[in-house]
Order: sequence, then structure tokens, then C-alpha cells
Amino acid sequence: MSRYNAREVRHCYDLAAGEYAKNFLHELDGKPFDRNLLERFARMLPEGGLIYECGCGSGHIAKYLHDQGRQKIIGLDFSEKSIELARRNFPEIEFQVDDMLSSKMPSESADGIVAFYAIVHFTYRQVEEAMTEWFRQLKLGGSCLISFHVGRGTIRTEKFLDVDGASATWRFLETGRVLKIAERIGFQQYEAVERFPYAGGEHPSKRAYIWLKR
Ligand SMILES: C[S@@+](CC[C@H](N)C(=O)[O-])C[C@H]1O[C@@H](n2cnc3c(N)ncnc32)[C@H](O)[C@@H]1O
Repeated sequence: MSRYNAREVRHCYDLAAGEYAKNFLHELDGKPFDRNLLERFARMLPEGGLIYECGCGSGHIAKYLHDQGRQKIIGLDFSEKSIELARRNFPEIEFQVDDMLSSKMPSESADGIVAFYAIVHFTYRQVEEAMTEWFRQLKLGGSCLISFHVGRGTIRTEKFLDVDGASATWRFLETGRVLKIAERIGFQQYEAVERFPYAGGEHPSKRAYIWLKR
């Protein structure tokens, strides 16, 4: 398995930030499963609590959580251009530039962490690093909800969303292996679900949604 190239991934999302927002800002409209999960997640967490949305991109997941009206949301991403755009799109929400693998967010500060498709460029090594960071940032009893594309292997794109120079490698992950990593770190598994893609609008891959508790 080739290495994770952080610099390339950041550059890819910096270049493609505008196109990403155009393509995905309203994607939850067509994803009832994801909406339902995010709503349940917000309802299960303490009112007035704090959620970090990691790898937030254009910020639409943060916005959906924010609109549940129960917790404060901070969107985090290492792509400065994505964060600039998210701030412009959703000025009511706080967004910060932050690297999931060496985050500046304090220990035991969050009630919840959401990372939808944020680990899609990681090898299992970075998955473990990111989850270790999330475990550190979560309060005892806090929850973590992550999603990713299920499978093996990689897809290489040289022109993500048709943007010149926006190249990166996407990686499929096996749900069982991710769950084993979570267990090793100390998480308790609450829910783990795989769903088939919605026809038409989604990349034709199975997806996993894993809800963990610290
Ligand atoms: C596929 S996008 C997902 C965006 C959004 N969560 C969604 O569901 O549409 C992956 C995001 O993760 C961010 N990302 C990748 N590696 C990261 C890292 N090490 N630290 C912070 N953000 C990262 C990228 O900049 C990008 O915005």
C-alpha cells in the first residue's frame, strides 16, 4: 500500500475547495441515512456540549449538526482554502485550520467527534493515529462517528473534480480492521453499519458508518 502524502492531499483540497463546495454542499439532501444518523448522534450527546467535525471540507456536515440546535460545532480541516470557504458559507459556525494527525484541540475537550469521509486518504497507520487523537480529545463517555468507503485498494486521481493539478490517492478500508484499531485504542463499539451507495449521485462503493464511545 503506498504512503499517505499529506502535502499532496492538502494541496488537492486547496485547489478543489470551490468545486468541492459546488458538488457537495447540498449532498445531505439526497442522503436520508446520513441525515438520520447525524440527527441521532446530536440527540444522544449532551445538550450544550461540543462537537468537532474533523476533515470538514466545505462545512456542510458541520452546518447540519449546527442546525440540530443542541451542541456547539467546531469544523476542522487542514486545507486553508476549504476553511476559508466554509467560514464564508456558514459564518454562524466556528471553523479552524487543524491537522487531524497532530491536532491542537485540547485533551478531553469534546463530547463528540464526527469525521465523515475524512480518513479516505489514510493508510491504516494514519487511521490509527487519527483515532488515537480523537480518543485523546474526547471526554470520558464521549462519542465518535466516522464514515469511509469500504473495500481494499486505492483509486488515483490526477484531476479531482476536473481541477488541474488536484491529484490524490483515495483508499478503501475494511470495516473489521478499522474496528480492531478502535478496540486496540480503547474505544467501545456502539454501532457499525455498512450501506450500499445511493444510485445516481454517489461513487458506487459500499460505505461504513462506525459509532464509537470512549
Ligand atoms: C473527502 S473530504 C470529506 C469532507 C467532508 N467531511 C464531507 O463529508 O464532504 C476529506 C477532507 O479531509 C481533509 N483532510 C485530509 N487529511 C487531513 C488531515 N490530516 N487533517 C485535517 N484534514 C484532513 C481534506 O482537506 C478534506 O477536506
